[in-house]
Amino acid sequence: MTHVTSPEMPPLYESLTWLTPLSEERAAHLVAFLSDPAPAEVLDMGCGWGELLLRVLASAPQARGHGVDASSKSIDRARQQALERGLLDRATFDSMPGLEVRNRRADAVICIGASQIWGPPVEDAKPLDYAAALRALRALVLPGGRLVYGEAIWSSPPHPAATAPLAGRDDEFLSRVDLREQILAAGFEVVDEDLASIQEWDVFEAGFRGRFTRWLEAHDDDHPAAEQVRRQYEEQRAAYEEGYRGVLGVAYFCLRG
Ligand SMILES: C[S@@+](CC[C@H](N)C(=O)[O-])C[C@H]1O[C@@H](n2cnc3c(N)ncnc32)[C@H](O)[C@@H]1O
Repeated sequence: MTHVTSPEMPPLYESLTWLTPLSEERAAHLVAFLSDPAPAEVLDMGCGWGELLLRVLASAPQARGHGVDASSKSIDRARQQALERGLLDRATFDSMPGLEVRNRRADAVICIGASQIWGPPVEDAKPLDYAAALRALRALVLPGGRLVYGEAIWSSPPHPAATAPLAGRDDEFLSRVDLREQILAAGFEVVDEDLASIQEWDVFEAGFRGRFTRWLEAHDDDHPAAEQVRRQYEEQRAAYEEGYRGVLGVAYFCLRG
């Protein structure tokens, strides 16, 4: 078999609004929680391409926002979006490890799918350290401030077909109930909480696979990398539909510090 180098895929922001299963309705709820009453400073740890932060700034016209993400491509996209929406005078975006963010407390903080900032590197294949993340976030939220915390959980007991395409371990995530305990132990008050629905997941996964579809649409069927890209698409589809669909979840918590 001829070796084919993996081709670069189109960026995920072309087929996803967020890098998490999140409907427009839920996003509007999170934005309302963070922007009313209006915050002075909004901090988004692991902001991706900044969509939620930018929506909060649009909804709270006096607020200043700061987004941090390790991915420079996502940060470039966030800055470009801020510019296009006339928000660049109130938004700053830094491409840096989130662990380096200190002394930057805010009255509205977002952290969705980015607890790994304060835990072991993903390559260490250790359980997600929610407690370390919550301690660090507690220190970033000003007294009485708000935190939107979204994180992966097991939404039903993990089984081998579900864990196989993930890290292969049942202890990778907590259940929502156990995560709520850690949240309370970290000193937050839970204002409301919910799980991403299966519809939000289906939309997210379809968008996630969309980069393969878009690559295939842009190239000939007999392109040397086409077979590999078709395989990647199929592996991703099977991992979800025959594996972790309905088992891997995301819980969203609206918290007060
Ligand atoms: C699941 S995505 C969520 C992105 C965004 N919060 C959203 O909801 O669309 C996790 C993000 O965390 C970022 N991230 C991962 N490790 C990080 C680190 N050590 N420091 C800063 N950002 C990190 C990734 O680049 C990615 O954009």
